[in-house]
Amino acid sequence: LNNGLAMTPPMGWLTWERLRCITDCEKYPNECISESLIKRTADLMVSEGYLDAGYEYLGIDDCWLEKTRDDKGRLVPDRKRFPNGMKAIADYIHSKGLKFGMYEDYGNLTCAGYPGVLGNEKIDINTFVEWEIDYLKLDGCYIDPIQMDKGYPDFGKLLNATGRSILYSCSWPAYQEEKKILPNYASIAEHCNLGRNYDDIEDSWASLTKIMAWFGDNQDRLAQHAGPGHWNDPDMLLIGNFGLSVDQAKVQMAVWAILAAPLLISTDLATIRPEFKQILLNRDIIAVNQDKLGKQGLRVGKKMGSGSRSKLEIWKRELYDGSFAMAFVSYRDDGIPYAAKFTYYDMQLPQSEFEVQDLYKEEEIRSWDGTSDFEVRINPSGVKFYKFISKKSMSEIWDITVKMM
Ligand code: GLA
Repeated sequence: LNNGLAMTPPMGWLTWERLRCITDCEKYPNECISESLIKRTADLMVSEGYLDAGYEYLGIDDCWLEKTRDDKGRLVPDRKRFPNGMKAIADYIHSKGLKFGMYEDYGNLTCAGYPGVLGNEKIDINTFVEWEIDYLKLDGCYIDPIQMDKGYPDFGKLLNATGRSILYSCSWPAYQEEKKILPNYASIAEHCNLGRNYDDIEDSWASLTKIMAWFGDNQDRLAQHAGPGHWNDPDMLLIGNFGLSVDQAKVQMAVWAILAAPLLISTDLATIRPEFKQILLNRDIIAVNQDKLGKQGLRVGKKMGSGSRSKLEIWKRELYDGSFAMAFVSYRDDGIPYAAKFTYYDMQLPQSEFEVQDLYKEEEIRSWDGTSDFEVRINPSGVKFYKFISKKSMSEIWDITVKMM
């Protein structure tokens, strides 16, 4: 969507993955979707360096509403959990230098059963503009996915007509993919800043790798539609929660950087362990994610193990300065680090002289020129993530490539 927003993939924090629909603030005072959660998270995003690193959107997902509209037909935030209303939340978020993300659903109800926008689009957009939101995730429960091809663009036009800059995140493709309807990704890129493509992520390695496999298998029809202003969305980061080891968390951060995916943290920033925080705040990896060329990376190689399971995959993203981000992901779970060797051909790199930086800084910088194999040693269900920086300029590489042909 050409609205000047999301020129690089959006970064922020969103309630859903970790906090879901926790609404009982007496039982779960630190976890319920509420004003105090949002204020506390806003404070921590600033004081703990997340905003400085680029995480600027603070978003409320589902379960913020009362079950019924007011007598004028307007949406009402839960009166107990948001006693001062949403404009007060927006003011607080903005006072911290952050941006405010909101959730609604294009259908009759949100996925968790709260009022959706269908039939009330204009009044709800006005409400959101009054509240000064900066980001809207529009979900797609309780509506026929066929209607989305028209409904999402129509809603987006109304949103745009308000004159307020609101990043538009569409769950449109996810509901069509689920029903085996081939989404019109060109139209989604034209009308949305983000398109949620596939399953909801769950807090496990199995869920993460299922999503990675789907993105790899479908990359030919997805990647071409990503670019400044419009990105594919493999869903939130699990990092900091219960289901991923530190090595597995490094895999998600690396692959989300390669995929030019939105980086939406969903964890308690008050209790996150330092090793997970360090992954989220890794500046070199964020720089790959935010690379201004805006080209979604690809899974370029696979080593198969027994059956249909990958043993290892290579993911590659081309960057603005002519360098390459390369992630080697190991799926082995048999105990010790896995050493493997690759040629420039395996890695689909030009045969040139590179300086190779380990973006997780576990290894020293190395030089590699493509004449020998490149050796990696990867922890079980882990990753090695490198930046291959050419010692020659791109035009020189191009000359070499042309002479080789
Ligand atoms: C759907 C979405 C999730 C989340 C929930 C909320 O499942 O895909 O990301 O927003 O609804 O109910």
